[in-house]
Amino acid sequence: MTADIFAPFTLGAYTLRNRLGVAPMTRMSAGREAIPRQDVLDLLVRRAQNGAALVFTEAIVTDYESAQGYPGQARLLTQPQIDAWKAVTEAIRARGAVSIMQMFHCGRMAWPEINPAGRSIAPSPVTPKQANPLTGQPYPVPDAMSHFDIAHVVSGFVETAKGAVAAGFDGVEIHGAHGYLINQFLSSYSNHRTDEYGGTMANRFRFARMIIRAVRDVLPKDTLLTFRVSNWGIADMDVSLCKDAREWEELIDLIDSEPIDALSLSTYDFKGKAFGTEQTMSGLTRSRTTKPLMICGKIHDRRTAQEALAEADIVLSGKSILLNPNFVEDVRQGKELPLYSSAEANVAYTFEPLP
Ligand SMILES: Cc1cc2nc3c(=O)[nH]c(=O)nc-3n(C[C@H](O)[C@H](O)[C@H](O)COP(=O)(O)O)c2cc1C
Repeated sequence: MTADIFAPFTLGAYTLRNRLGVAPMTRMSAGREAIPRQDVLDLLVRRAQNGAALVFTEAIVTDYESAQGYPGQARLLTQPQIDAWKAVTEAIRARGAVSIMQMFHCGRMAWPEINPAGRSIAPSPVTPKQANPLTGQPYPVPDAMSHFDIAHVVSGFVETAKGAVAAGFDGVEIHGAHGYLINQFLSSYSNHRTDEYGGTMANRFRFARMIIRAVRDVLPKDTLLTFRVSNWGIADMDVSLCKDAREWEELIDLIDSEPIDALSLSTYDFKGKAFGTEQTMSGLTRSRTTKPLMICGKIHDRRTAQEALAEADIVLSGKSILLNPNFVEDVRQGKELPLYSSAEANVAYTFEPLP
């Protein structure tokens, strides 16, 4: 039987007060010190105040070499950065919610201009077909990552996870979705390697596995570790990152065998059918894992949240919760709520403080 959206859920050592969470959302608000603007941090605390059970941060870039893909992104590697986030995690906890820091490396989606190393790196020297939407320029051809690069990037994830622990986060999420570096390794579309990191799905997953295990090793026992995955990427959105349902199942089986506390599945639309089958992505994923499953994509009111929960344990909302401070309460009351467009959510990247 499907659980009620307002029933509590046990996630590792934590009890979530309901099944509704704030999806990770980049805001590009940080200055040189790589700390988000105060109003951007405050929004996360307000969403906890207003009833969300789980609050993800924006995607935080993992190293100072070549991880950054957008201007104004946050890092969690210095004491001032840790201090800024510590105030946020304490406030979220005081308001009864659980905080998870999401981290990523952009790989071939990085901007060399805003990275100290001035280069972009990826599994293979393959650029997205699409131009960078922020500059209108083609993405540069990335350097194929050497074994040194791979070890360095893994240590960036580890160092950032340590920053999250120091800042008091309840959990850490490794962003393996949306066509960024980990996802680039997973997909044979962007991974043409012939070494142990390319070829079979097990080989393409090796980089993700190294990161998951290295991060798990530095987390205290009760700190949550989650992994986000999607079958689409932010550039070349029409490309299916797995070729069919079988390949997706293989990937989920590999993720399922890792020491994570939950899997977060990102879709355009939670109702969309997977790979021409009659199953949804969450139905297909659910059939391969018993780990707690989060689902996201066009969940915007009580009816859709409840429907999504039939095949998952936690629902995350992006645009709806970003633009509507009363989202959780409105869902509770079963109000009719709008489905916001991406264009409407672009206000997230402006100086305008959101309610
Ligand atoms: C402004 C904005 C920023 C986003 N940034 C991230 C991010 O940093 N990491 C991530 O995994 N997803 C990011 N996403 C995707 C959302 O987490 C979510 O998967 C997507 O918006 C679909 O959910 P929705 O239909 O409820 O909006 C972002 C979405 C928006 C609207």
